[in-house]
Amino acid sequence: MKSYDIAVIKGDGIGPEIVDEAIKVLDAVSKKENFGLNYKEFLMGGCAYEAVGTPIPDITIEGCKVSDAVLFGSIGGYKWDNLPREMKPESGLLKLRKELGLFANLRPVSVFDELIEASSMKAEVIKGVDLLVVRELTGGIYFGEPRVNDGQRAYNTMVYTRDEIIRIAKVAFESAMKRRKKVCSVDKANVLEVSRLWRAVVEEVAVDYPEVELTHMFVDNASMQLVRDPKQFDVILTGNIFGDILSDEASMMTGSIGLLPSSSIGGIVGLYEPIHGSAPDIAGQGIANPLATILSASMMLRFSLGETKAADIIDDTIKDVLHDGYRTPDLAKYHAKEVCSTSEIGSIIAQRILRA
Ligand code: IPM
Ligand code: MN
Repeated sequence: MKSYDIAVIKGDGIGPEIVDEAIKVLDAVSKKENFGLNYKEFLMGGCAYEAVGTPIPDITIEGCKVSDAVLFGSIGGYKWDNLPREMKPESGLLKLRKELGLFANLRPVSVFDELIEASSMKAEVIKGVDLLVVRELTGGIYFGEPRVNDGQRAYNTMVYTRDEIIRIAKVAFESAMKRRKKVCSVDKANVLEVSRLWRAVVEEVAVDYPEVELTHMFVDNASMQLVRDPKQFDVILTGNIFGDILSDEASMMTGSIGLLPSSSIGGIVGLYEPIHGSAPDIAGQGIANPLATILSASMMLRFSLGETKAADIIDDTIKDVLHDGYRTPDLAKYHAKEVCSTSEIGSIIAQRILRA
């Protein structure tokens, strides 16, 4: 029997609750499809800071490096807001992304028909939306030096090298080839040097993909177009901070930020996480929506482990469960037959997989 080593980082806030449900579902589908999953838990975030005085101990980085994939929940919380930057939970995640070389963050956005009314956007605008945000993840203003805050003056540096742009652009074009063959590169080339280089290099990479239609959009316009007519987009290619912002915006098409998975790839091992944060205000209440994490687990099976059939089973079961009206409280208003807790909806999905 094939078996895989999964590094599990539950993190802070709702992280542990939602990851537990993803594991429940992974256990069900691996049993069904006859492969093994060995989980090893590691600390990262505020919980790691509390336990060992750093948001990311070396053992976590090493453990992830030797695994077949990393499944991650969420990190952060008000409690750690005032720590120095290197000690903040977020720094743990940023360091992990960097150390694993995960320069490409893929955030697919599609709308479940059952939840169309859950979105704050009009049904006719979002019905059939299917786009992919390809966000650069280990460069840009998140990592650029110098970075300073001396109490009087503060600045960060948005920097991209030609090589960094080439490799993320390739991911976007390759993704587009498997989809509707459109890439929209988002930048701020009317103002920023870094964006002018970005645009020029993306144009160069595009030459190798003659079948893909490339367009460019300024980020302010893109954020407007995303709510005006999201169906115009197939693949959105963009830098670290623009991708961070646009993907939160895009998540609202699905009706809940608790529905969007992501994969971070390009390095030693893939990392899979929901796009949402740790929601400390609802942590421990059993009301968090675990679907984004379960969908991230499905992406893990598909992209890191090559277990395509298992991934399809999870995706289809989630659709069925939503179709049949099972909802966590964030979506309770929309055709709910039964409002479920975090663990109830996880169990329903796992049981259906085992019974099928
Ligand atoms: C995300 C998050 C992170 C980011 C934070 C937690 C550092 O918002 O994954 O989108 O900004 O990349
Ligand atoms: Mn974000």
